[in-house]
Amino acid sequence: MSRIVADLGFACLKNPIMPASGCFGWGREYSQLFALNILGAVVTKAVTPEPRPGNPGPRVTETPGGVLNAIGLENRGLTAALTEELPWLQSQGVPILVNVAGRTEEDYVQVAEALGDQNLLGLELNLSCPNVREGGISFGTDAKTVYKLVSRVRQVCPLPLVVKLTPNVTDITEPARGAEAGGADALTVINTLRGMAINVRTRRPVLGNVTGGLSGPAIKPVALSMVWQVATAVSIPVIGCGGIAQVEDVVEFLLAGAAAVQVGSAAFADPLLLPRLVSDLESWLEREKCSVEELVGAAHS
Ligand SMILES: Cc1cc2nc3c(=O)[nH]c(=O)nc-3n(C[C@H](O)[C@H](O)[C@H](O)COP(=O)(O)O)c2cc1C
Repeated sequence: MSRIVADLGFACLKNPIMPASGCFGWGREYSQLFALNILGAVVTKAVTPEPRPGNPGPRVTETPGGVLNAIGLENRGLTAALTEELPWLQSQGVPILVNVAGRTEEDYVQVAEALGDQNLLGLELNLSCPNVREGGISFGTDAKTVYKLVSRVRQVCPLPLVVKLTPNVTDITEPARGAEAGGADALTVINTLRGMAINVRTRRPVLGNVTGGLSGPAIKPVALSMVWQVATAVSIPVIGCGGIAQVEDVVEFLLAGAAAVQVGSAAFADPLLLPRLVSDLESWLEREKCSVEELVGAAHS
């Protein structure tokens, strides 16, 4: 087996590098720069049952070491995903994780059921979304809610389920265990951390939504520690995400226990970062005479 192959348990990927949801669209623009099938997998923008316009602007602002975004899950909805976006991406010959979001449990169930017979690597359930039935608290903050949501989706959808956890909790191992008990095949750790910025001239919040999600290098140590914790708490594979910008970051996440990684904000500044990480990782493994498999979780022993 090649050094760079990544084992997700339910599938083996040619390498462990994939884009993070929402930072790659459906890959159309990036496909003009490189062949998408050199990546381990592609993770799509979130899909909700209905089209969503997203939040009022400004929706993105830079902070030292990071990006704050409050896009509000803007997307064209399930029908456009099924009839336009997905057929195109499926023609690119790369494994696909479709990111799923919703306002209610039924939203997730509806999207998962509709995608269940598609040729996909799996679904990634984004649990950072506010649950309108629970006063807007994220689905991912309560282990029982996570368990219930994942179990319901599991019942209607035969595809592998990757559950993406929010870091905005006291103990991330609790929702991680809830997802595993509900039938998740893998976990993505982490989504963005809640943050905000204020414009001192206007004396108003910079983002139209007031708060947003922080991503980028600033969150890497937080993400790494959460991958470490979750990898110890569950026995399903973990996909690491948060602040990855160079090959050494990828290796750190693997050593902490991630079986694969996702790269988000850093690709905005350097659109060729993903293919470069694949070749840099290949060279790194060759030089160190080891494999991805040998690195996963090695820092724990
Ligand atoms: C502009 C933007 C849009 C995002 N949209 C989504 C999304 O639709 N679904 C999701 O699960 N995460 C979304 N995320 C979170 C990223 O997938 C990722 O978890 C986060 O940015 C941390 O990784 P990074 O530090 O490498 O950017 C978004 C992030 C950004 C910056």
